[in-house]
Formats: sequence, C-alpha cells, structure tokens
Amino acid sequence: MAPDPLIAAGVPGLVDLDPATFRAAAHQVVDLIADYLEGVEGYPVFPAIEPGSLRALFPAAAPDAPVPLGEILADYQALIVPNATHWQHPGFLAYFATTASGPGILGEMLTAALGQNPMLWRTSPIGTELEGVVVDWLRQALGLPEGFDGLLTDTASTSTLIAIAAAREAAGLKASAEGLAGRPELADGVRVYASAEAHSSIEKACMTLGLGRASLTRIAVNDRYEMDPAALAREVAADRAAGRVPLAVVATIGTTSSTSVDPVTAIAEIAEAERLWLHVDAAYAGPVALLPELRAPFAGWERADSIVVNPHKWLFTPLDASLLLTRRMDQLRAAFSLQPEYLRTIDRVRPVRDYNEYQPQLGRRFRALKLWILIRAFGLDGLRARIAGHLALAAEVREWIAADPDWELLAPTPFSTVCFRYHPAGVSESMLDELNAAVMDAVNRTGEVFLSHTRLAGRFTIRLAIGNLRTEERHVARAWELLRREAARLGAGG
Ligand SMILES: Cc1ncc(COP(=O)(O)O)c(C=O)c1O
Repeated sequence: MAPDPLIAAGVPGLVDLDPATFRAAAHQVVDLIADYLEGVEGYPVFPAIEPGSLRALFPAAAPDAPVPLGEILADYQALIVPNATHWQHPGFLAYFATTASGPGILGEMLTAALGQNPMLWRTSPIGTELEGVVVDWLRQALGLPEGFDGLLTDTASTSTLIAIAAAREAAGLKASAEGLAGRPELADGVRVYASAEAHSSIEKACMTLGLGRASLTRIAVNDRYEMDPAALAREVAADRAAGRVPLAVVATIGTTSSTSVDPVTAIAEIAEAERLWLHVDAAYAGPVALLPELRAPFAGWERADSIVVNPHKWLFTPLDASLLLTRRMDQLRAAFSLQPEYLRTIDRVRPVRDYNEYQPQLGRRFRALKLWILIRAFGLDGLRARIAGHLALAAEVREWIAADPDWELLAPTPFSTVCFRYHPAGVSESMLDELNAAVMDAVNRTGEVFLSHTRLAGRFTIRLAIGNLRTEERHVARAWELLRREAARLGAGG
C-alpha cells in the first residue's frame, strides 16, 4: 500500500487535533472565558492605546512550524484580551450594547462545534427547522400576528438590505432579473424614504442595491426627532409628480442617536395608500415589545411589510444575530432565489425551506441554536425583567440629570438611552461642543466607563446607553459621578 501522503509529509495520524489534546485545550478555554467574565471589571473598558500600536506586537508573517496551543492561549491572554474594547464590561455605556451572555456564549461554542450550514434544508435539517421555531417564538413574544414569517441574518444592515431588495420586487421592478440600468421607465429615479435620524444602513442598502444614495430621501423630523408624516406625504407626491418611482419607506422605532420613535401608524397609512413597502427598523428597541404593557411605541408595526429586531443588541445574544420578520417571504424569494443544479434538492418531500433563497449569501450560520438556548435559559420572563431593569436605570439617570442645573437633557428618553450635555451657566453656546467633547473624553480615559456621542440639532450630545446585561445601578452612578467630576474640573478651566 502506498504510504499516506500526509504522514509522509510529517503530519502525524489525524489531521485535526487529537481528541485528548482538544479536550484539554477546550477545558482551558472554558476557564479563560469564565475568568474573563468574572474579572472583566478589572480591565479599562477602552484600553489606553493609540491606533496602529498593535500591529507591531505580531510577527509580520505566519509561522511555518506549529505553535503549541498552550503558547497560543498564553499569547491570547497577553496580546489579545488587554487590547480589546471591553463590550462585556458593565461600564460599557456607549453605542448600543452587545452582550455575550452566558447562555449566548454556550450557544456559540456548540454552534462552532456542530459546524452547520443551514443554506438548504438538506445541509442542516435541524438548523433550518429550529430557525423556523425560534423566529416564530420571537414573533409571538413581540406580539406580532401570525402572518409574519422570517429568518435570522447577521446584522440589521443585511436585514434592511434584504427588505429593500424585496420592496423592489414587490413594486414590480423585476430588478433581480433585469437590473435597473438603462430602463426608461426608471429614468427619473426610484425613491426610498427614511427620517433624517434613520440609520446609515438604509443609505448603504440603497448604495449596494444599485439605487444609489440619491434614491434615499431623508424626511424632516420634529423637535422630538420623530419623522413628520405630513412631510413624507408631500415628498412622495412631489416624486410621483416628477415621474420618480417611490418604492419603500423605513420607519424607525428607536433611532440610533436619540432612540426617537417615528409615528408608525401614520406612516403605515401613507405606505398603504401609496403602495410603498413599509420596513420598520426596531434593531435596538424591538426587545421592549416583549413587555406587553410597554408596546405603545410599537403601535402600527404589525402593518409593516418587514421588521428588523437585533437580538445582538438588546437581547443579550453575542454577535451576530438579527431577526428579519416579514409578511412577504415570497418577495424576498423573488429578490434572491437562484437554484443552480448543485443546490437542487432531490428530496421527495418538499423541504420545509431552503433559507439561502431569501438572502444574498449562500452559506449561513446556525444562529437559531444560541437563541434557542438563550430564550430557554432566561425564559421570556427573565428577558422581560432584565429589559425592564434597564428602562428603570435609564429613568433614574434621566432624573439625576434633570435635577442638576448645570446639565441639560437634549432628547426624550423613550427607552434606555439618555442624551444630554454639560451646560453650566455663563458658558456660551459656541464653547459647549468643545467642552462636552473634552468631558466625555476625560471620562472615557478613566477606563471605568465608556460613553459615546452624537449630534442632535447640531449640538454635541453625550449618550449614555444602557443595554449590557451586567450593568447595575452602581455602574451608571459611577458614570454620573465621573461626568460631574470631569465637568467641574474642565468647566473651571482645568
Ligand atoms: C436603529 C439601527 N438600525 C440599524 C443598525 C445597524 O445594525 P447592525 O450593526 O446590526 O447592522 C443600528 C446600529 O446601531 C441601529 O441603531
């Protein structure tokens, strides 16, 4: 018998790690994970490093010889962990949180080991059917009617891109078959509408789908940063009069800057009258709808054609997991289905579903597994209680700010994100942006908490966003203490 070429090349026996080595290393990894989570508060949320300082820590080329796993894990501890932004730190109050919860991490570990690719039912029966189960569990828990089906994607950006691609098909553009270039009936352009405060992912979807950034019309907002539906109606009418083709409107429940809530019912009226696809972006705030008594901001979202909610934002699921719900799966399929022979199924019973036909990618992760574990481990009541806790904490922070005459709230707080600035008497408007940027930077440099900012009505605005599972009252209290301390120091010319 000819010698095994791998063995001849010096690769002993099994090509992967042998089971005993794998088991020992895996136990070590679990200890690293548990130690990290237990001690995460000991790290500065954002490390004291400057851009470009890390590359030099690593060899310029990959090693030719195998490196022992023990050495790799030691390097992980020394080089990787200290140079991370610690999203899992309870003082992480920037952007919108992404929590790698215990159940979510366990789910990720098992997902990696099973290595499923639920692109076809046949390539992962359980990946496919469990996705249907979890999507429907979440639909019910969010209080949405049975007509909604859906899928799990990587991010809200992808979910929204899929929704807008489906909107093109629903409008009869046959864009997936014919493209958009050189079509006289579209010569004056197509239009997608979203508020001035809507997320950049909508604009990116327009760029990616060949509609162009010019196809996105930003609709004016009121002084609460909510879309003005009358302005939407006017824009649509003007576009029709000018020969442009209105396709879709995106309403946001929980905008990125201030978490404002567009008036979805009024927008749905316009969308229905104008036959526009209505996509609701509830990427951040969606999980609040798990609490039936707090569904007022969601009124009308059941009339949407599609809705995005991100479990990887406020549902304690490690990146990535975005839930795209839609009443029109057929239009998603029209936008993305291709069946080359090598993907055709020869099952006699029609498969439940081949999810790749509803999205741009072929290969996909088994995201349903971590959600199935997480939802069961916390229970819907556990998830509700945690979200309610975050809302209560945000209300408390809002009260502290409102009670201090040197500070100013800059937007309503419909959910768990508070927008504010330092505004002591006697400091002119022209100085406030710089002063607030300096205060936030000084607070972040302490490493104890991490805040981010936005601009509202042209003003530099500090955002304190609660959504990390590990954040407790003492962490937001410390953030407030540091803000006041640094503001007093810098405001006094410090
Ligand atoms: C309202 C809203 N929509 C969409 C997104 C994009 O989310 P993702 O990073 O999952 O694409 C964000 C991100 O913060 C967001 O706040």
